[in-house]
Amino acid sequence: PRRVVSALQPTGALHVGNYFGAVRRCVRLQRRGEPLVLFVADLHAHTAPQDPAELQRRSLETAAYLLASGVDAERGVLFLQSAVPAHARLCWLLACLATQARLAHLPQYRERAAGGDAPLGLLLYPVLQAADVLVYRATHVPVGADQLQHLQLTAQLVRTFHHRFGRLFPTPAPLLPDDGSDRIRSLRDPSKKMSKSDSDPKSRILLSDGDDLIRLKIQKAVTDFTPEVSFDPAARPGVSNLVTLHSLAADKLPEEALEEARGLSTAQYKRVVADALCGALRPVRERAQALLARPALLHELLRHGAARARALADPVYAEVAARAGLAPA
Ligand code: TYM
Repeated sequence: PRRVVSALQPTGALHVGNYFGAVRRCVRLQRRGEPLVLFVADLHAHTAPQDPAELQRRSLETAAYLLASGVDAERGVLFLQSAVPAHARLCWLLACLATQARLAHLPQYRERAAGGDAPLGLLLYPVLQAADVLVYRATHVPVGADQLQHLQLTAQLVRTFHHRFGRLFPTPAPLLPDDGSDRIRSLRDPSKKMSKSDSDPKSRILLSDGDDLIRLKIQKAVTDFTPEVSFDPAARPGVSNLVTLHSLAADKLPEEALEEARGLSTAQYKRVVADALCGALRPVRERAQALLARPALLHELLRHGAARARALADPVYAEVAARAGLAPA
């Protein structure tokens, strides 16, 4: 059976890279009838120092933005990762199948550890991510392009597990979009991806940004010195990123977005892009604000989601434990 699994770090109000690159695609898969397991990766967040109260607040906020984006918590399963112990338990066994050299070689680790004495959790980060999807026997994982290497490691861990303990898991396939949303770029430096950790807040648009802030950030977006609008991501990454954002926000093909840009300068076109983004994000922001005004409801929803997630994950972990000669519960 197909099962779609994905997760987001608890960054609170997600950015439009997260939204178009992952969240909205999860929502659309779910609307097409795919069984969706989606969670807030709060265990992963601890690979960087966290203030406990702040982490809790941002986890709840992230869940609110997922719901506001259209995730259906009744048809699917929505919860906080740390509420389902099977993730961490499977992570341990998978960690024993991974090698330190392989993990230390992954680009995200090398960037974040940067030669320093990094926490062990940072090295284990992708192993926990493998456990995250395998513990639901995921078949498909919608993510942005930056997560591909993690899925390659997952496939490798599946092979090693099968070799040691017999076949159990499908090899989860990454679901990458073909609409340019797999790698939304920074508005300030289009050679980089839009990222939650960029020190310049104008580099990203958050789902919590109001219309004025969205307009300001688009207006300040770095383009180039050619006034016309064209779509050429290699030669004109900044302008092309705007065309991509426009097409995603207005639900148009890039060609249709370009059609609307005909005769406009990039400065004039930015107004069109900002309008489209404001229109697409306003309902999400308003729904999220309404949900965040009801924290008790959110907590209850997540508790219910975690119970259902445990009902899916526990039997898979029990089978893993049996295969590995470990106690079942
Ligand atoms: P995170 O929280 O960094 O990002 C969440 C999702 O958003 C995508 N994304 C982007 N897509 C397009 N353009 C961008 N600029 C952009 N930035 C981020 C990411 O690819 C991701 O799909 N390790 C994961 C969280 C995770 C996970 C998992 C994902 C934990 N366990 C299991 C899938 C399955 C992460 O840090 O995502």
